[in-house]
Amino acid sequence: MDLQQLVTQIAKDMIARRDRGIVADYIPELASIDPDHFGITIALPDGRIYSAGDSDTRFSIQSVSKLFTLAIALGKLGDRLWQRVGREPSGQPFNSILQLEHEQGIPRNPFINPGALVVTDAILQGHEPREVLGEVLRFIQSAAGDGDIRIDENVARSEAMHGDRNLALAHFMAAHGNFFNPPEKTCGTYFHHCAIEMTCEQLARAGRFLVGGEGAPRLISPASVRRINALMLTCGHYDGSGDFAYRVGLPGKSGVGGGILVIAPGRAAISVWSPGLNAHGNSHLGTLAVEQLARATGWSIF
Ligand code: DON
Repeated sequence: MDLQQLVTQIAKDMIARRDRGIVADYIPELASIDPDHFGITIALPDGRIYSAGDSDTRFSIQSVSKLFTLAIALGKLGDRLWQRVGREPSGQPFNSILQLEHEQGIPRNPFINPGALVVTDAILQGHEPREVLGEVLRFIQSAAGDGDIRIDENVARSEAMHGDRNLALAHFMAAHGNFFNPPEKTCGTYFHHCAIEMTCEQLARAGRFLVGGEGAPRLISPASVRRINALMLTCGHYDGSGDFAYRVGLPGKSGVGGGILVIAPGRAAISVWSPGLNAHGNSHLGTLAVEQLARATGWSIF
């Protein structure tokens, strides 16, 4: 299969579409992003890449960063992490507080906002935000083999100024004894790792540690690779996870910046970016693009 021809065709098809979804506006700094952007990259385990569209434009990775903090937390805490956060799909929007009330402040999974806040809280313990953010950036840089990956301070500040909902989630978990740092400190760290900006090419390369195969960086144990992929498949698109698994058949993690990182185990990491979102807060054209890619390559795991 000619992968370059495939991504070129997918970009052409997506750019021609009129239905682009709605750009997230609850973080004001993201609201002004041009919805016409579209980028896609396939990275093979050895680092070869195939790209089309705006694949070298930086975008805010937002919740895709939750993959990297989860990998770091599993490396540090191992199975102890699961005393504080579950491994079940929530069937609820990413920022919902509903289940926390009935479930003793234990979030359903590490990808919904309360779960990701617990993960950040766990890796923060005993450290300063600056150290933890340095560690997250170094992890991503070494996964990507690229030192030029940074945080967009304007996005972090913009989210912090409108961070009441995440602060409420953090305080609620603190009330249940499932939060160890001051909510403002953990939320501040979380807003900053969500504000990491990357290109599709950098993100696809960084995703290779979850692909396995000859030449892929080995940053975590093979067991953790399998488990993170399982969580991506079941929870990576929030209340849209079942639909994504049905249509694409691959583990994926989305972000409200419009990026999605998709893993074809043993074959490739795929990143797409289109800022317009669907009703579940996942990239509308990004999902269509990886659906087209999975159909053409036969890379579905099913
Ligand atoms: O906490 C938030 O709301 C954002 N920093 C991240 C949410 C997000 O990316 C949800 N994904 N689709």
